[in-house]
Amino acid sequence: MALHKLKRIGILTGGGDCPGLNAVIRSVAKPAMSHFHASVIGIIDGFEGLVEGRTRELSPFDVLGIINQGGTILGTSNKGDPFHFPMGERSNMRIVDASDQVLTNIRNLQLDVLIAIGGDGTQTIAHKLSEMGVNIIGVPKTIDNDLMSTDITFGHDSARAVATEAIDRLQTTASAHHRVMVMETMGRYAGWIALGAGVAGGADIILIPEIPFSWDSIFDSVLKRSKGAKFSIVCVAEGARPRDGELAIKEVDRKRTDPVRLGGIGELIAKRIEDETGLETRTTVLGHVQRGGSPTPYDRILATRFGTVALQAASNGDFGTMASLQRDRVCTVPLKDAVGKQRLVPEDSQLLFAARALGTCMGD
Ligand code: F6P
Repeated sequence: MALHKLKRIGILTGGGDCPGLNAVIRSVAKPAMSHFHASVIGIIDGFEGLVEGRTRELSPFDVLGIINQGGTILGTSNKGDPFHFPMGERSNMRIVDASDQVLTNIRNLQLDVLIAIGGDGTQTIAHKLSEMGVNIIGVPKTIDNDLMSTDITFGHDSARAVATEAIDRLQTTASAHHRVMVMETMGRYAGWIALGAGVAGGADIILIPEIPFSWDSIFDSVLKRSKGAKFSIVCVAEGARPRDGELAIKEVDRKRTDPVRLGGIGELIAKRIEDETGLETRTTVLGHVQRGGSPTPYDRILATRFGTVALQAASNGDFGTMASLQRDRVCTVPLKDAVGKQRLVPEDSQLLFAARALGTCMGD
């Protein structure tokens, strides 16, 4: 790696946190400081902190022993889109374009490159800034695994592991009480977490946003199971919806990069199952438990590979790109190819095929 041109490296984590963020920060900061004697400027709370000029220079001690830590030592926010920046409080709140402020702050901080670790919101902002001339490189994170142009994002494996363990635990209590257990996972408009955990945990019914479900297929499936195994596990993604119904929305908040917060479909399904079949049903909403805690070894390794490749790309002047896993090789792809579209579970997914082959009800 030849980092001769990079003296000051900015780094931020944007959007919802996920396990592995600290592993990326470490894998950028350690080689940057030790091999290349560059200063690493941590931006506090993502793009929100960049607009507001909140930064702190990282020391080698800051990145010591953090590879196994969840969260992010830099803090994050999903309310800091510089192009739609919320100014003022509640009734006085207005949305302004603060991108000029970002350019000024980057200039004042004398950053040679900005490494932006985040999901589609963060990478979309990174792409827009790159088009305005900012030297920027993205690193793809999200538990949802819904980013284009990479085979997987870091954080997803950890979330899927938590959700799988939750199903394992629900299996025993469901079996003991002969109940239907409905578990709602995160994932926004993509079903990767629910499908992965559902298959790994042996769920009987898996409902994902990509396959709008029919109520009857769920009722038939739990009734059939009630006569044999006497219990059922339903793993439902928060973005799943009935064929004849709407998405379950918890909140709409204009300050957020993605204003819509999903949630509530698990409760609705449990209630409908109980009402229609008379089977005793309980709901578990995993929520932020999926995003917390220590990253799995897979995510620590992927995050480390992403971070080192991002730094290498920076030293090569390969700006306007995002680190990406392509067939087990980490490389960079143009940011423009990673944004504007979500990576959903495709119809011909082998995992979907496997689930169906095992007799899992997919709600259709
Ligand atoms: O994008 C990550 C994610 O955890 C989604 O799965 C979920 O819908 C959303 O963030 C929750 O956002 P918040 O942390 O703002 O409630």
